[in-house]
Amino acid sequence: MPAYSFTVNGNAVTVNAPADMALLWVLRDKLGITGPKYGCGVNACKACTCLVDGHAVTTCSTKVSAVQGKEVTTIEGLANGDTLHPVQQAWLELDVAQCGFCQPGQIMAAVDLLNRTRNPTDAEIDAIENVCRCATYGRIRAAIKAAAENMP
Ligand code: FES
Ligand code: FES
Repeated sequence: MPAYSFTVNGNAVTVNAPADMALLWVLRDKLGITGPKYGCGVNACKACTCLVDGHAVTTCSTKVSAVQGKEVTTIEGLANGDTLHPVQQAWLELDVAQCGFCQPGQIMAAVDLLNRTRNPTDAEIDAIENVCRCATYGRIRAAIKAAAENMP
């Protein structure tokens, strides 16, 4: 099997995997990083969302061969030591999560949006396609707006 080298949450990793293995399974099964969740496997639910070179991607639909040499960030890599990322902090303060399953992906999508714009409109927030079966969308919108005020 070929070897692929990239960074995950700032740590250099090399994994042996088939070229078409989904990044989601490399993260979860080979590296033990379980924040990214499996929901659909077909780029529909977005529960597996992580950042690659700072941009949100669905890891179920991203091949490991596509992240060779790149920087992968999962929800485990957002906090700075004991200091939560502003999006995580807003999520806690507004008690966004219900069952929680979709929430790592929701937070990573929110970070991607706030990295692109510090003042997102309701339409830009609603354009996030991550599905929440508990329908926490209202709290997600409020938390993104709260986090926007505290982004570095
Ligand atoms: S698991 Fe649903 S989009 Fe990746
Ligand atoms: S919090 Fe349950 S699916 Fe989103």
